[in-house]
Amino acid sequence: MPGDHTAQPTATDGAPPLQKPAFLTDIKTIRERARQHLDQGAVTGGYRADRVKVIELLNTALATEIVCTLRYRYHYYMASGIHAKSVAAEFLEHANEEQAHADLLAQRITQLGGKPNFDPEGLATRSHAEYVEGDSLVQMIEEDLVAERIAIDTYREIAQFVGQDDPTTRRVIEQILASEEEHAEDLSTMLEDLGKKGEPAASPLSDRTLGRH
Ligand SMILES: [Fe+2]
Ligand SMILES: [Fe+2]
Repeated sequence: MPGDHTAQPTATDGAPPLQKPAFLTDIKTIRERARQHLDQGAVTGGYRADRVKVIELLNTALATEIVCTLRYRYHYYMASGIHAKSVAAEFLEHANEEQAHADLLAQRITQLGGKPNFDPEGLATRSHAEYVEGDSLVQMIEEDLVAERIAIDTYREIAQFVGQDDPTTRRVIEQILASEEEHAEDLSTMLEDLGKKGEPAASPLSDRTLGRH
């Protein structure tokens, strides 16, 4: 019927529509929605994720990054021994990168209208990774590798959880995840190198850390 705009192309029509894709909300609705709830800033009516849950997950990630920053910094100051210089430099670099991750997470939490939790009270409990000092250079690296592997698994899960519902959060998490994978790789290489240089590699943690049982 001429002038009949009610018939919308559907996925079952066969060939995909050439013009306006069916999944796009019409611009009039988007414009109207954008004027509502201006106080919510970047969170629009089209935001599909569970915002409260996403903020909660981001805050656990933030706690993890703060704990990792502190642990790496401690390791930087405590690294000693013949091979300590290059290892300490790596600890410091990682510490600074964990701090940058914390900043990215805090920024995303505020964009979503949440409050980044920097409260030292309960920090270790909120964090996925642990703060372990380690008694030797090798133990320090092992503990850092354990923490990175915990972060890798939890960030992968968070990215899967938000999926398509919050692409920005997913991208932030995936960006950090890629960096944690680099850290884990660095640490693994450092352990190997230290083993070759004869640094005492045997520790009660070795088997657990490297997934050998
Ligand atoms: Fe990190
Ligand atoms: Fe890391």
